[in-house]
Order: sequence, then structure tokens, then C-alpha cells
Amino acid sequence: MNIVVVNGPNLNLLGERNPDIYGNETLEELMVWLEKTPSGSGHSFKFFQSNHEGEIIDFIHDERHWCEGMIINPAALTHYSYALRDAISSINIPTVEVHLSDILSREEFRQISVIKQVCIAQVSGMGKNSYLEGLKILLKNY
Ligand code: DQA
Repeated sequence: MNIVVVNGPNLNLLGERNPDIYGNETLEELMVWLEKTPSGSGHSFKFFQSNHEGEIIDFIHDERHWCEGMIINPAALTHYSYALRDAISSINIPTVEVHLSDILSREEFRQISVIKQVCIAQVSGMGKNSYLEGLKILLKNY
């Protein structure tokens, strides 16, 4: 399966950003780990991170013919980006929304996802295992 893993704003700072909430590992460590898990083996991955909404949307458009499944941690864009939501719903690729932290038990603004309805599942609060769970859901639905 061809899988893209997209990470939104500020996730490039994982490892130093609020480690009490997001852990000590860098984004790169996390993505390498995901690809090397037994679930990841035999599949092709492309990883992308950007702090810019438009760049994320362009990446999703560009990969729409290659990719067969998407794991996305939209970070703060989760809570307000209708443009990202439209991009996901425009490409018709099964997508799982993932979060490291449990967004439902944090500030009120984080409890709202405008992305959720255009995804096949939302996984949150499992740290890096949220990405692994997202991968398993994609594989199960393939
Ligand atoms: C996050 C949760 C978001 O609310 C936040 O803006 C992030 C990270 C998470 O992975 O827990 O940047 O998506």
C-alpha cells in the first residue's frame, strides 16, 4: 500500500515542544519507527511536515494519484481548517486523523475537529501509537 503521513504546524519541534504532552522523541524518530514497525513493513511511505496550510494542501493534491491511504496529524489545523477538510474530501483517499495527545480531554478549542467527518477514523491520546493505530486502520480497510 502507498501511504502518506502528513504532519501539520509545530510538529517539527517534537522532542523539545511541551515534552510533558508530546513526548521526547523527534518527528523524524517517530516516522522512522512507524515505517519499521511490523505493520509498516512491505508498504511504501512518503512523509511530509509543514507549518503552512497551503503547502500541506498542495502536497495532498500532488500525491493524490500515488497515495492509497493517508495518516494525518493536522495539529492546530484540526480545529479550524475548512480548506484542509475540503482538500481531504476532494481526493477520495481513505484518511485517518491522528493526535499524540488526547484532544478530547484538553482545552475546549481542541475538542473540536473540523477534519473528523472526512476521515474514516480519529485516533487520539496514544502518543506515537496513535500513528500505528492509524496505520492498522488503513491496512484493515484496504
Ligand atoms: C496535536 C493536538 C493539537 O491540538 C495541537 O495543536 C498539536 C498537536 C496532537 O498531536 O496531540 O499541534 O495534533
